[in-house]
Amino acid sequence: MIQKPRGTRDFLPDEMEARRTIEWRMREIARRWGYREVCTPEFEDLDLFTMRSGEGIIEEMYVFEDKGGRKLALRPEITAAVIRMYINEAKVAPKPLRWCYFADCFRYERPQKGRYRQFWQFGVELIGADTALADAEAIMLAADILNSTDVTYDLKVGHLSFMKNLLEDLEPTAQRRVMAHLDKKDFDGLKGTLESIQKPDLGNSLISLIECRDLAEAFEIAGTIPEKERIYQTITTLDEADVNYTLNFGIARGLDYYTGMVFEGFAQNLGAENQILGGGAYRLAHLFGSDDVASCGFAIGFDRVMVSLGETHHKKDTIVAIVCTNEGRNHAREVARIFRAAGIRSEMDLMERGLGAQLAHASKTADFAIVIGRREAESGNITLKNLHNGEQKTLDPESALAEVGSYGAR
Ligand code: HAM
Repeated sequence: MIQKPRGTRDFLPDEMEARRTIEWRMREIARRWGYREVCTPEFEDLDLFTMRSGEGIIEEMYVFEDKGGRKLALRPEITAAVIRMYINEAKVAPKPLRWCYFADCFRYERPQKGRYRQFWQFGVELIGADTALADAEAIMLAADILNSTDVTYDLKVGHLSFMKNLLEDLEPTAQRRVMAHLDKKDFDGLKGTLESIQKPDLGNSLISLIECRDLAEAFEIAGTIPEKERIYQTITTLDEADVNYTLNFGIARGLDYYTGMVFEGFAQNLGAENQILGGGAYRLAHLFGSDDVASCGFAIGFDRVMVSLGETHHKKDTIVAIVCTNEGRNHAREVARIFRAAGIRSEMDLMERGLGAQLAHASKTADFAIVIGRREAESGNITLKNLHNGEQKTLDPESALAEVGSYGAR
């Protein structure tokens, strides 16, 4: 038997309904903040991703050659593609641009719960606003979207300049190695690397910085930072807006295009794969041969949010089974039309079953049965049966609709 590819998932209708409910909550909040949806191709030129991160990233991607010999990659994330699209299509548009997306990404990772090879991100990119207010807006929007899903999470906000200041004397490759250890919280690896580059003392300052939760203290540890005013302004804006976050100067971010403010969200009830959000301020356009543009954004790991929410949030559709005899079929079709037009999910028998068998099927699949036999066809009424408590009433179709509608609202 053929199975789905490793690291991918199938979604049955119950799960899709739950996913769409949460997806639409996220979309709605983004819309309210003025973010409009964009869509980019599922695959891009491989260069789009290697330009920024080097050839090493190929190991973590789905890379292939098409029939024309072009080297392509399934997108491992959307930000680079959005900036490519901005350069191609929207460079002269009035700034800032507020864009959002809901899209699948592909990473060649070792699959486990919450870590997949195909996964979905809900993300936003705020392009062309190089201010503390823009940084703050991205964080506030991230919090607003996560709050709309009812997931319980911790939000951590930091800034790369603190770490960069401490590491400024290191070679770029050593800096990257140190940042990678910090991103993975691999303190043994960090110690080893610092010893190998003869900077063992740096370990203490780095660890003090990572443990520090106070802005003034972080400035003391890291020394003079040119972005100081902007950082204070971002943090003050978050405080004034009552955003619930903690400062964390150890955030290093895995992707290497970030330039300033960075933030991450962690679901409180998940294990190893608990990071549900990542983002920050970044610059990418110059890599793709364009004038530089300051941007910031974030992506929410949609699948992890769904794992964190579990089954709790899902409100099920009310289902009506329209059960009829041959004499009642025309009236039944009209009743189904009225119910569907009113937005009620209504299903009719397709299996040419008798009334008893239709009712037995309805009791397994529906909340209400509407029974239409000869008597109902002649009177224009219907028999409405609540399949949960067995209550049965004869009503005209409009009253039945009101009754079913009020059940859905409970
Ligand atoms: P990222 O941190 O690589 O950032 O991914 C964002 C989120 O996607 C993660 O926090 C995680 O929840 C989810 N995620 C990542 N890998 C997997 C996986 N294998 N399975 C399930 N979920 C996963 C970015 O992608 C940046 N583009 C975010 C950004 C937007 N920065 C600026 N703008």
